[in-house]
Amino acid sequence: MSKFIIEGKRPLAGEIPVYGAKNAAIKMIAASTLISGLTILENVPDILDIQKILVILEKMGAKFKRINHRLEIDTRTLKSGNPDPVLVAAIRASIVLVGPLLARFGKINIPHPGGCTIGSRPIDLHIKAFRDLGVEVTEDKNLYTFRTTDQTPRQTVFPKISVTATENILLFASAQEEIITIKNAAIEPEVLDLITFLKRAGAKIAVQDRTIRIEGTKNLKEVKHRVIPDRIEAGTFAILAAATKNSLKITQMEPEHLDALLEKFSQMGIVFEKGKDFLYIKAPEHFSAINLTTAEYPGFPTDLQPPMGLLLTQACGQNRIRENLFEHRLGYLKELQKMGAKVRFLNSQEAEISGPTPLAGAKLESLDLRAGATLLIAGLSAQGKTTIEHAENIDRGYEKIEERLRVVGASIKRVS
Ligand code: EPZ
Repeated sequence: MSKFIIEGKRPLAGEIPVYGAKNAAIKMIAASTLISGLTILENVPDILDIQKILVILEKMGAKFKRINHRLEIDTRTLKSGNPDPVLVAAIRASIVLVGPLLARFGKINIPHPGGCTIGSRPIDLHIKAFRDLGVEVTEDKNLYTFRTTDQTPRQTVFPKISVTATENILLFASAQEEIITIKNAAIEPEVLDLITFLKRAGAKIAVQDRTIRIEGTKNLKEVKHRVIPDRIEAGTFAILAAATKNSLKITQMEPEHLDALLEKFSQMGIVFEKGKDFLYIKAPEHFSAINLTTAEYPGFPTDLQPPMGLLLTQACGQNRIRENLFEHRLGYLKELQKMGAKVRFLNSQEAEISGPTPLAGAKLESLDLRAGATLLIAGLSAQGKTTIEHAENIDRGYEKIEERLRVVGASIKRVS
């Protein structure tokens, strides 16, 4: 177990590069099992969640080679069977292995990937959608068996939008000869990037609003694909600049993916300049309070809700924050209260935050990936020393985070 030690309020300046999207790359690694051959991915971050999904496939016989951010996956030696249940339970996103492995081998057993601190993380939407497509799903003591049948229904309608459930069906459908339609699909940039990947492999996919029409093939071919930049990492660094009141240039990113965040920045009076592949944040001394509500894309992303909650502690006035996607995603605010943040919880999904409140360094715990990144920013904004336990939670999604922050002047070190 390692922790971060931060000395706050150091002036920050310069550029922070953004790496590839964790939540796109994981799904493309799963997609590689649809292709009996080589998959080459560029711009893949070297983070724990990526390593975990690769180890699952390596244990099933796949081979991979990483050279910096380039990843080559060879699934010619992938054997049928079930992913290691212990490894699956260690990463929730492993649920997206169901679609491709089911398409390739006809059957897969997988344990419920488990909840986490932000919510119970059910998989009922995944199960319903597979059953809509003729897949037999049974469950025994938290172990799920998915089995293809000769039924070939052609459509599933999601009663609620789900990113990984949409992606699971996309992956399964891309290897079916018949046309499959998904209605009320998630359309996050990571979902659309996966669609670009699958089209490159030979699937015919059309997206119209939230309807996705897939004409798959049993012979998907080898793909070379560059993963989109991680919009959540980019947004986290933009909020870092605003919260610490520094001017920073965030590079190697896609500003178009951050429209919802930039809309909030405009409302708050935070000045920014959008370039082709960069965002320049010029943080004012004072910015206004707002109301923030999360929603599915293109709404405000739930993964930026925690760092935004930290920013609102520095805004002038009374903010209201509402987390609509997960039932327990305001826990980080309790950590910020240890630093002096003024928070009034209305329920587990809604709180009022008043500011600006000077924050003081404290001993904190990173509950989950995005909460951990939020505490990093809080430590950099606070007076004095902050320690953050469980640094590995942050390593799940942010590669070499302390090195990239030190380059712009942050005082941060990792101790085991
Ligand atoms: C993906 O999770 C992301 N993870 C999450 O990022 C992200 O917060 C989330 O989408 C929302 O954008 C990956 O892509 C690996 P959902 P996912 O299914 O697919 C409920 C991060 O920090 N639901 O869109 O699991 C669910 O409880 C992570 O990188 C069901 O009820 O999210 C939630 O309330 C955190 N039944 C809502 O839907 C289901 O079967 C949206 O969840 C599935 C989901």
